[in-house]
Amino acid sequence: MITKLTIDRIMEATDIVEVIGEFVQLKKRGANYVGLSPFSNERTPSFTVSPAKGIFKDFSSGKGGSAVTFLMELEKFSYPEALKWLAKKYGIEVEETIESTENKEEENHRESLMIVTGYAAKFFHESLLETEDGQSIGLSYFKERGFSNETIKKFELGYSPDQWEAFTSNALKEGYQQQFLEETGLSVKRDNGTLYDRYRGRVMFPIHSFTGRVIAFGGRTLKNDKNVPKYVNSPESEIYHKSNILYGLFFAKKAIRDEDNCYLVEGYADVLSVHQAGIENVVASSGTSLTVEQIRLIGRFTKNVTILYDGDAAGIKASLRGLDMILEEGLNVKVVLFPDGHDPDSYVQLVGTQAFKTYINQNRKDFILYKTDILLKEAGNDPIRRADVIREIVESIAKIPDSIKASVFIRECSHQLEIDERALLSELNKMRLAKARKEAQQNTRTIEPVDYLPTEELPQEQPVKKEDSSQEREIVRLLLLYGNKMIDWDGITNTYIGPFMIAELGDVNFEHEASRKFVAHYSKEVENGILPDEQFFIHFSDKDIVDLSVTLLATKYTLSDNWYEMHKILVPDEQVNMKATILGAIFHLKKQKVGKILDGLRTELQKAVGEADTEILLNQYMHMKKVEKSISDYLGSVILK
Ligand code: CTP
Ligand code: MN
Repeated sequence: MITKLTIDRIMEATDIVEVIGEFVQLKKRGANYVGLSPFSNERTPSFTVSPAKGIFKDFSSGKGGSAVTFLMELEKFSYPEALKWLAKKYGIEVEETIESTENKEEENHRESLMIVTGYAAKFFHESLLETEDGQSIGLSYFKERGFSNETIKKFELGYSPDQWEAFTSNALKEGYQQQFLEETGLSVKRDNGTLYDRYRGRVMFPIHSFTGRVIAFGGRTLKNDKNVPKYVNSPESEIYHKSNILYGLFFAKKAIRDEDNCYLVEGYADVLSVHQAGIENVVASSGTSLTVEQIRLIGRFTKNVTILYDGDAAGIKASLRGLDMILEEGLNVKVVLFPDGHDPDSYVQLVGTQAFKTYINQNRKDFILYKTDILLKEAGNDPIRRADVIREIVESIAKIPDSIKASVFIRECSHQLEIDERALLSELNKMRLAKARKEAQQNTRTIEPVDYLPTEELPQEQPVKKEDSSQEREIVRLLLLYGNKMIDWDGITNTYIGPFMIAELGDVNFEHEASRKFVAHYSKEVENGILPDEQFFIHFSDKDIVDLSVTLLATKYTLSDNWYEMHKILVPDEQVNMKATILGAIFHLKKQKVGKILDGLRTELQKAVGEADTEILLNQYMHMKKVEKSISDYLGSVILK
């Protein structure tokens, strides 16, 4: 367990904008920062960070919390992992109380794997730079390919000795456990139970996680033998999920954000050469076709992707369909083709940074127009094949979530395809509607036909159904915001708002689960003589309470303005008449509860017609009716004046 003192130090040092800013491009808006949600694929920023409160709120996914919660959600860290990440970032020493080794081992399984891969990276790197074979074989190969010492260091390139057990025996000697060597795929088990090295006589490209730790490797052979696989890669493991990783992202993320563009290449060597040329916003899909996860990873930093292809036409055609997926994720896709026989690596090494950039700028084509071009050329004059092309292109365009953008493409493609724009538009709308219907069935948001202009959406809480919990949540909100403040009650006595509210609400049964828990905890603290503040609940151990608190704090008025109108609270600022705000909330809730009791009694009365207890029920009903009336009168006198 991390000690309380350490946790406090970490919390103190943590700047939530700085932390989240490492993962999300944030823009200042008023007192807050906003950006695109890293948890969902949104196009209008609704992800809000409040530095003053130390919280974030993602209105599209509903997630919210502290910097720690953020890391746990995004990086899937455990609570201690998130704390340690922050501690490392802010140079805070972590004190831990001792746990049973068994527990710790289990908790730290992932950590153990990463320690092993980290050690391996160091081993291969040192073997490259400091052993004779490493220098004469590995290093000279990298040098020949034009990689500088700086690049080799930065990307921790390495060399695995051409022996069966060089790495494994060293690792075992250093005390690394067999289990972890196997699980990371660094070592392979023989039938007799002993281990040998997976990588032998290969140059090594460590693959870094999003946070910069080595989690896997690609090892390239130096032989020209067709029977030897060119690359040997780490197998999937608990720390390495290939479909979630982009090679180079850790080194590229800042530049991607700054440049608002991401270059996508195929291979390790492409990333290294392009990065070395000073174009640092480059990542590789590492040979496999792109996955949605990888695209979303890019989408966290920028909406603009430029794919740098080598000049192999067959490969391009094969990948065209896969690229629709990028459109679907709302990214803008451009494509650059290199001259035959060149890939980004060889081309940038040949012509240098300036000419490379110029080439990209002059040859960059929008993906859809480019696709249209290729398919049209292929179809030639065959009318049936041309019709297929048209359908395929419109299909791609229909995947673009932004309808304005889609209509622009329709216009441009109508020239290219030599077909009337309206015909394309009607085809497009058909597809979009079909898609919207399908999505509506799956209960996701619908898509409007193209001639609608989407209005600027302001980040808002997902429209909450007019459900009962709004009144209960209003109580929680007031407790959070004002519970530890004084109110000048009648010009004479000052009272703390929190204890007053708790006392007033003693007879109210909260139905909304999180609100009930919140109020219960609040009462408990008050009983102990403590007035908990926002921070107390933001960092609370119960996730429901954190979620509720953050949601309420991040929303200016949880209840829509309608609520205030409906209840004739016409003060624009609730603090101007604190008394009305507090009493209004309490008595509206009470009135709601009484209303419910009345509803219940009414149902019972209907059922109980003619029975003996009708009279008792009727009496209760009349009594509650009076209570309701007195609450209404009271509300009228307090609030409306
Ligand atoms: N790749 C792989 N396994 C292979 C071949 C390729 O995993 N047998 C992946 C690697 O991530 C490689 C990428 O696909 O980087 C692109 O392949 P290729 O263009 O052949 O490799 P380069 O990185 O360009 O290697 P080099 O320039 O050294 O030939
Ligand atoms: Mn290459």
